[in-house]
Amino acid sequence: MKTYRIVTAFLLLTGVYASPLAAQQPLNFTIKANEIKARVSPHMWGIFFEDINLSADGGIYAELVKNRSFEFSSPLMGWSIPKDVAGNGRVLIVNRQADHPANPRFARITVPGTRSFALVNEGFRGMGIKAGEQYNFSLYARQQGSTAVKVTATLLDENGNAIGSTTLTPEGSSWQQYKGSFTATATVPKAKLQVQYSGPGIIDADMISLFPQHTWKERPNGLRADLVQLLADLHPGFLRFPGGCIVEGKELSNRYQWKKTVGDVNERTLIMNRWNNEFAHRATPDYFQSFGLGFFEYFQLAEDIGATPLPILNCGMACQYNSGEVVAVDELDPYIQDALDLIEFANGDVHTTWGALRAKMGHPAPFNLQMLGVGNEQWGPQYVERYTIFAKAIKSRYPAIQLVNSLGPGPSGDQFNFLNDTLRKLHADILDEHYYSSPEWFLKNAARYDTYDRHGPKIFAGEYAAHTREAVEGANKNTWQCALAEAAFMTGLERNADVVAMASYAPLLAHVDGWQWAPDLIWFDNLRAYGTPNYYVQKLYANNKGSEVVPILKDNSIISGQDSVYASAVLDQVMGELVVKLVNTSAATKPVTLAVQGVKPGAKGQLVTLQHHQLQGLNSLDQPTNISPVTQNIDIKGKTIQTNMAPWSFYVIRAKINK
Ligand code: AHR
Repeated sequence: MKTYRIVTAFLLLTGVYASPLAAQQPLNFTIKANEIKARVSPHMWGIFFEDINLSADGGIYAELVKNRSFEFSSPLMGWSIPKDVAGNGRVLIVNRQADHPANPRFARITVPGTRSFALVNEGFRGMGIKAGEQYNFSLYARQQGSTAVKVTATLLDENGNAIGSTTLTPEGSSWQQYKGSFTATATVPKAKLQVQYSGPGIIDADMISLFPQHTWKERPNGLRADLVQLLADLHPGFLRFPGGCIVEGKELSNRYQWKKTVGDVNERTLIMNRWNNEFAHRATPDYFQSFGLGFFEYFQLAEDIGATPLPILNCGMACQYNSGEVVAVDELDPYIQDALDLIEFANGDVHTTWGALRAKMGHPAPFNLQMLGVGNEQWGPQYVERYTIFAKAIKSRYPAIQLVNSLGPGPSGDQFNFLNDTLRKLHADILDEHYYSSPEWFLKNAARYDTYDRHGPKIFAGEYAAHTREAVEGANKNTWQCALAEAAFMTGLERNADVVAMASYAPLLAHVDGWQWAPDLIWFDNLRAYGTPNYYVQKLYANNKGSEVVPILKDNSIISGQDSVYASAVLDQVMGELVVKLVNTSAATKPVTLAVQGVKPGAKGQLVTLQHHQLQGLNSLDQPTNISPVTQNIDIKGKTIQTNMAPWSFYVIRAKINK
């Protein structure tokens, strides 16, 4: 017995599971499949998108040129002038604020004689290029005087060898867009783009761009298909965008303003990304927002992947961790107008001002916006004051729109309690709770919502992730331990679907060479991407959502940590199936017997297991499915389902039901 304890302690400490421990007594659970406890919201399991970790520019937005319009604070950031090709030409950055305030800078290139001059773009941590794929180069250009400077775009591999090229001959002295395409001859993870200007003459150039032809749904200048596919595979119920703290900005001048992200891409005003210099240990000085992925594209993405759109708007408050700057209450009108106009942009008739813009951008049909977030992670009376004004204005014009409110950055404490009490008294629609905490916190709080008011506002678990370290300092990894704790916690979200209407892990995406915050759901480099164990937990919940919650009990109590097991059950009325989720957070095998009452399960069922023998186990670019679901068929005898839960495992069981 003593030896057994020592071995157990060692295994738990190291997080390494060697072999099944001593046989356990079977755990007898009862499922009351004819007692509907709650309806599961169709939006229940969604995704949270924020442009953090190079998620948008350098990530899902497939543009390969960094600082294409010379609008970064340092106008030539990302560009270099190779000495061997430069000749004695020169580049001048011209700022024409009055003529083109949204995109004021351009490059004026002077090439004396018949020599040439080049600028090389390094891409976002290089450019991921695939052999045999077509790439589309474009730029806006005009010649000065009667010159005819030629522009040759050449992709270079890591050794400077050309792997694809196209030449354009801009004509005339008016700005015009020119396009050329080529097929890459090699696969290169970190290519560069050389743009060479052959003289003699002077030429102006702007919006220098390179996109893969192959994008999500093959849309020109679109999104990275592999990343969107990973999102689509989640079958998310909603897409929250554009964040996150990015909504707030460090100061109000740096806040997200959706109107500046729609219409012609050339007219979208670039700003610094607030994550650029947020963390000293992960400084990203070249992180800006081009807004090539703007609000139209977010709505379109939501529609593409079957998610209901959930935009979050600035409520007149900058990030309270940074400046805490607020707009004066009597100057809130433009912010409120932005909210009203957004609803018109999403849902308005094509004859309305904003509905017409949506139609012009290619989507005459409404986007069916039903929910809107007012502020991100705000707190204090200043938030309530501003939210109240927003709510009055929005509800009086659009009573059906459900508003999502902030409950601050944490799930407890004075800030949380103040907002929770106040917003409940104000009959808020949906309260947005955030928790980034230890795996232990997630296990301890799996029954958090069992005691919530069933008649108050709905809960949106809008940002959560288990973190092995408290500080967001880079040591946090997407370990199996974190994913397992989240799976256990999510049984509590599902069981309380009458209270919890929506939930999303955060953040969603991270570039392995350009991240600021970890852990994240999906990691990628310039060519590859993988889902973390946490991704597969989310996927299993979202793809096995069901429609109604039914009780699963042990000794007539909910199962939330007794014997280190967590459980929830739903009916999937569309498929006519019972769906059971079981999580074993211990190092021991757990034999489980499920006695199904009220319905008769079919003789064959399906078992999906997600498990790993090391709590510190990870997925990676080289081992993307190291920890991933395995599906098998199971036999069901009568009204009893039996399974032996492996140590540290998450099981989803599906069984046909006959009433
Ligand atoms: O998800 C990362 C950040 O965490 C979000 O931007 C913010 O809302 C929260 O503090």
